[in-house]
Amino acid sequence: MPHADPAPYRALVHAPETRHLDVIDQRTLPHEIVHLRLADAEAAARAIREMAIRGAPLIGAVGAYGLALALDRDASDAALVSAHAMLDATRPTAVNLRWALDRVRDRVAPLAPPARADRAWAEADAIVAEDMAINHAIGEHGLAVLRDIARQRSGPVRVMTHCNAGALATCGWGTATAPIFLAHAAGLPLHVWVSETRPRLQGASLTAWELGERGVPHTLVVDGAAGLLMARGEVDVVFVGADRVARNGDVCNKIGTYDKALAARDNGVPFYAAVPSPTIDWRMNDGGAIPIEARDADEVLVIAGRADDGRRVRVAIAPPATPAVNYAFDVTPARLVTGILTERGIARASGDALAAMFPDRAR
Ligand code: MRU
Repeated sequence: MPHADPAPYRALVHAPETRHLDVIDQRTLPHEIVHLRLADAEAAARAIREMAIRGAPLIGAVGAYGLALALDRDASDAALVSAHAMLDATRPTAVNLRWALDRVRDRVAPLAPPARADRAWAEADAIVAEDMAINHAIGEHGLAVLRDIARQRSGPVRVMTHCNAGALATCGWGTATAPIFLAHAAGLPLHVWVSETRPRLQGASLTAWELGERGVPHTLVVDGAAGLLMARGEVDVVFVGADRVARNGDVCNKIGTYDKALAARDNGVPFYAAVPSPTIDWRMNDGGAIPIEARDADEVLVIAGRADDGRRVRVAIAPPATPAVNYAFDVTPARLVTGILTERGIARASGDALAAMFPDRAR
């Protein structure tokens, strides 16, 4: 595969000729690497719903395979419609899921039922290969940004990221991490500030793990440290991922992204969203109507982790019955975004610039 991610781990593997999918169960990282075999559409849906797998592009790819798994069992029109709906309902915010499901459905629907499942598997494989190539291209455009910064200062380029927009969130390379991984491989000195990402801690448990696996220097900070670090001049650039980008360049991403964009603007730090084209929702004019997933309040009230004796434990951190709300995403207005890093280049965060970069999609 051109531009294959050389990392020793893969969020998702579909071995040729097999009719199942193996994924890393991201809920046990960084303490344990557990693989899950997804052998039917319900298992794929469960993995997405329960966040065994997560990250917008990966959700899309697993959804595509989920449809292929469903068609293996029943390739009728009715089964196609109901499997599409079942998988589409698993998580609401990342538009890659609907994009991938629609893509597979549109390819297989015109075929006679006996030909549908094979075509769906092939389409899901194509989505994986394309995701890897897209992220590599995003990485090259982001690398140019990092090289520019490196030319202007001595010492490592200090990047801040949020949540996990890494290889674990995609089929390889990650989006926000692709420039970091390419820069590190090219010998450009870097240091990454990893924002822990309450409440599920994808920064602490996943991004810190990925950077450690690849030997990229990094430091974990609490989410609230971003403003201080930027005000002290200790951040050169912010790279985040996205779950959905509206036509006008508003960026929906993990809760806490907006706060980083505000702090970045106030301190003159460039703020880039790394956005594969399937994450752009051309049907949405601005970010105001993007559905924001509200997850179980328990995630805010209880922290899960590993105790000193190795046991996995859950620890309550608030008085019992404290009311809590758990919005999983926020929307950063386009005006706070320095640029959208896509596979075709860096676009200004505006409707005109995005449409000019993707005239074939924006119609
Ligand atoms: O709730 P999650 O873990 O699926 O949220 C993930 C994020 O917000 C990522 O930043 C986003 O999906 C981009 S992944 C390339």
